[in-house]
Amino acid sequence: MPALEADAVLVGPEAPPDCPVCPRLVAYREANKISIPGGFNGAVPSFGDPDARLAVVGLAPGRMGANRTGRPFTGDGAGVILYETLIKTGFARGSYEARPDDSVELIDCMITNAVRCAPPGNKPETIEEATCRPFLTARLAALPRLKVIVTLGDVSRRNVLRALGLKASAGLAGHGTEFQAGPYTVLNSYHCSRLNTNTGRLTPEMFEAVFKRARALIEAAG
Ligand code: URA
Repeated sequence: MPALEADAVLVGPEAPPDCPVCPRLVAYREANKISIPGGFNGAVPSFGDPDARLAVVGLAPGRMGANRTGRPFTGDGAGVILYETLIKTGFARGSYEARPDDSVELIDCMITNAVRCAPPGNKPETIEEATCRPFLTARLAALPRLKVIVTLGDVSRRNVLRALGLKASAGLAGHGTEFQAGPYTVLNSYHCSRLNTNTGRLTPEMFEAVFKRARALIEAAG
């Protein structure tokens, strides 16, 4: 079956949970419904404050994390450092317990993913990134007070730039880089995956510095 265009299905900030546009991801979802019975197993909606001045953009739901629980970064290793850092820097309150019904509430912050359905091996294909991108464009456009975008990893950075109508090469890659993309400041971070945190490629201090910078930029913008 050929891939449908996302905007033939729905153009809005959120993909429908049973989004049909990427055949490979639909097949993976169907397999996950069998191997993870009772899991969310759908396109995971963004989570956070609709008036957010900060957007955090991840890669895609992890199979046993967001795909299982239905909330971005919830239930896998990446979520622990992300939610703890957001709480520490004042972009969240509550206690992260890896469940969508824990007490975490985001403050002035929205978390979303470049690709909304879990991909095999955490690796979306280029066509899947492109097909899902209208949802990212719509998500960012639907945040009326948005000032700063934190991208987690290079797939996120490239997709944010493309979602804003820019070339993927328009902003520098790497951790701690910063550039203007239209009306927004983009701050890049290495992805907060367990692989990156366990190997020390991304330390809690490096990660926290990105969100402290986001805080400073947001406060300076008023
Ligand atoms: N969970 C998500 O929702 N996104 C990621 O990028 C990683 C884990």
